[in-house]
Amino acid sequence: MLLRHRKEFWWFPHMWSHMQPHLFHNVSVLAEQMRLNMLFAQEHGIPTDMGYAVAPHHSGVYPVHSQLYEAWKSVWGIKVTSTEEYPHLRPARYRRGFIHSGIQVLPRQTCGLFTHTIFYNEYPGGSKELDKSIRGGELFLTVLLNPISIFMTHLSNYGNDRLGLYTFESLVKFVQCWTNLRLQTLPPMQLADKYFQTFPEERDPLWQNPCQDKRHKDIWSKEKTCDRLPRFLVIGPQKTGTTALHSFLSLHPAITSSFPSPVTFEEIQFFSGPNYDNGIDWYMDFYPFPSNVSTDFIFEKSANYFDTEVAPKRAAALLSRAKILAVLINPADRAYSWYQHQRAHQDPMAINHTFQEVVTAGPASPRELLILQRRCLKPGAYATHLERWLHHYQPSQVHIVDGSQLRSNPALVMEGIQRFLGVTPIFNYTQALTYDESKGFWCQRVEGGRPKCLGKSKGRKYPDMTPESRAFLTAHYREHNMELLRLLNRLGQPLPVWLREELQSSSWS
Ligand code: A3P
Repeated sequence: MLLRHRKEFWWFPHMWSHMQPHLFHNVSVLAEQMRLNMLFAQEHGIPTDMGYAVAPHHSGVYPVHSQLYEAWKSVWGIKVTSTEEYPHLRPARYRRGFIHSGIQVLPRQTCGLFTHTIFYNEYPGGSKELDKSIRGGELFLTVLLNPISIFMTHLSNYGNDRLGLYTFESLVKFVQCWTNLRLQTLPPMQLADKYFQTFPEERDPLWQNPCQDKRHKDIWSKEKTCDRLPRFLVIGPQKTGTTALHSFLSLHPAITSSFPSPVTFEEIQFFSGPNYDNGIDWYMDFYPFPSNVSTDFIFEKSANYFDTEVAPKRAAALLSRAKILAVLINPADRAYSWYQHQRAHQDPMAINHTFQEVVTAGPASPRELLILQRRCLKPGAYATHLERWLHHYQPSQVHIVDGSQLRSNPALVMEGIQRFLGVTPIFNYTQALTYDESKGFWCQRVEGGRPKCLGKSKGRKYPDMTPESRAFLTAHYREHNMELLRLLNRLGQPLPVWLREELQSSSWS
């Protein structure tokens, strides 16, 4: 009968045999299964070009199983789906939409009808519960409080006591009787457009750890695990010695770094930019499977996390228990090092302007010059950036590394870091590192006691900063450094040597 009346329905492709997409790791096998569904539709003349699909138990939709998104696009050209699981099933009022891989994911609401609720008199708690929900209860409030609601009544409710029809006819009557709301229905693609026009801020997802929600864990591929996520992050900022720290950490037998990215100078830069759109499958592929989950410390270093506005929120959503390492040097030296870095990369602004011109450039200066100025100065407002991280992480999760000490006495700094991380055994960096006179930096000690140093781009040779620029930056950062002093005192963290010196010198001047 359904097939006879097929033109009166909006059909959407479900999974073949109600199978769960997250059980398939191979995208071609998954796509093959979907094609069975397509053949069935074609054989029976079922129109299925709605661009909309859902998956059983939300499997693969959220947490995102990238294979499902790929198969949906290639087999059916799916553009819209819906789920109750983003960010979590409960509380229902927090459900949101997002867009991933070109597919618009709409939040779906719960209407109280499921595959097993098919008889009015056998409704859980009695039929009065369903009627209560419709007449001013949960279902009514859902429609009242959400400008756009999507429900799934399940096909079985159209047979038996036709609870789907009963529920929604009664709901519409009740809403029209007691409110001024004008109800309207739209096909999925138009609805999705309308949804993201109404809630444009929901377009970008916020990925969370699939293993921290029991329901999510149940529909998370067993082949993926959640162990391929870092236990700590080195967040930067750039030019403070983060590469040296990364290389020292990697010497530790229990610490493992992410694989290098071929694109972004080895760093993954997931939380700070467009890579985030690739989703967590992409991110996890940068990590090995830890050989021992409880003792292995995997980490990544992306030095632009520190001062990127969205990074702490994104990092905390996925890695709420991670520890955070930030390396701070005198922000004036950091600014100058960035300027030298840009000169070495042939940035015309850095080549054609002195450092003094860059840092003192007024607002009417050329745009490129102001961009360079911003990259020199902005990350150095340390307290502002740290406050953002501390908004999302407990103080006990955040460790400030004194970058000048990392440079002069790395073994001591590395000992402190190991204690903060709680990594065992404590690795002896006094033996592992050696000072290289010609490089002027500490390097790894390799066979025969020879030093293996970082490349030419780390620890460059350039003239000292002019006293004029030093004075300008000391004044520029005075208030920021005072803020940092207050922040570190509040946290009970020791003051970096350079901060004490800088505040002493600025109070003399
Ligand atoms: P310069 O090249 O301006 O001296 P990052 O790795 O975060 O980009 O930081 C680079 C800076 O790390 C270098 O800046 C250098 O001063 C500092 N650094 C600290 N310890 C180092 C080490 N052991 N080897 C090389 N550079 C080190």
